[in-house]
Amino acid sequence: MTGTDAGSGTGPSPGHAFRIDVFTLFPGVIEHYADASILGRARAQGRLDLRTHDVRESASDPHRSVDDATFGGGAGMVLAPEPVFTAVERVEASADGLLRPFILLSPSGPTFNQSTAVRLGGSPGGSAPGFSLLCGRYEGVDQRVADHLVDEELSIGDFVLAGGELAALVVVEAVARLLPGVLGNDLSAEDESFATGLLEYPHYTRPATFRGWEVPEVLRSGDHGRVERWRRAEALVRTLRRRPDLIEARGGLAPDEVRLLVEHGEVQVLRDHGYDW
Ligand code: ADE
Repeated sequence: MTGTDAGSGTGPSPGHAFRIDVFTLFPGVIEHYADASILGRARAQGRLDLRTHDVRESASDPHRSVDDATFGGGAGMVLAPEPVFTAVERVEASADGLLRPFILLSPSGPTFNQSTAVRLGGSPGGSAPGFSLLCGRYEGVDQRVADHLVDEELSIGDFVLAGGELAALVVVEAVARLLPGVLGNDLSAEDESFATGLLEYPHYTRPATFRGWEVPEVLRSGDHGRVERWRRAEALVRTLRRRPDLIEARGGLAPDEVRLLVEHGEVQVLRDHGYDW
């Protein structure tokens, strides 16, 4: 069941599911990706109620055209307002209504990040019911859609995609994996990159020696305190080296963090970033 205006892919208990509606010209792309892996399981378990709506089905002309040339001249076609407004108003008028915010994926929006995912996913416990997404296409979307239908715009980065589908999937996946029960272990979402404001420490699995490269001894020591301190030090070093802007955003290293890095012999990275101890 793909791309119907009635929505598709509801799990066994959609009443308790977090709902995301995606308005797109390519519902099959969204459905195909969202049927696999974590999203597929979340849908099957009824935790995620992802519904796709084919904007083309709301085009009124016999050719079901959804785009037109840009007023004022210029290359490329613009997604017309009529099929988009109609598709959205059909859902608004349905028994379930439309969940807002209604968000346009566009390179002109503010950049999506982990805090946006947390905001859209609602507080822990999943109190927020959901939101809706519109995938842009062609050169863009008629400005009246942005001005009078959507609540906000989001970009997934400073590059231009052919359309908003990949961007929508990025948002859906980043939000869905924060929902209660979607990841096998709820702690894994709290501990990882960006949730803590730091990049994540390195992970290893078996074998302990692979092609002569050893897993750090501390991780095999069974000393949980030492492992925790090592992981924190690694996360701090990695973030300082690769994303110093993230360290700046949290007000620099705290004195106990500087001490931790000194204890772990990481004095060069401290010097490189102007820290004294
Ligand atoms: N559509 C085209 N490019 C995009 C981007 N970078 N983010 C979101 N939607 C887009």
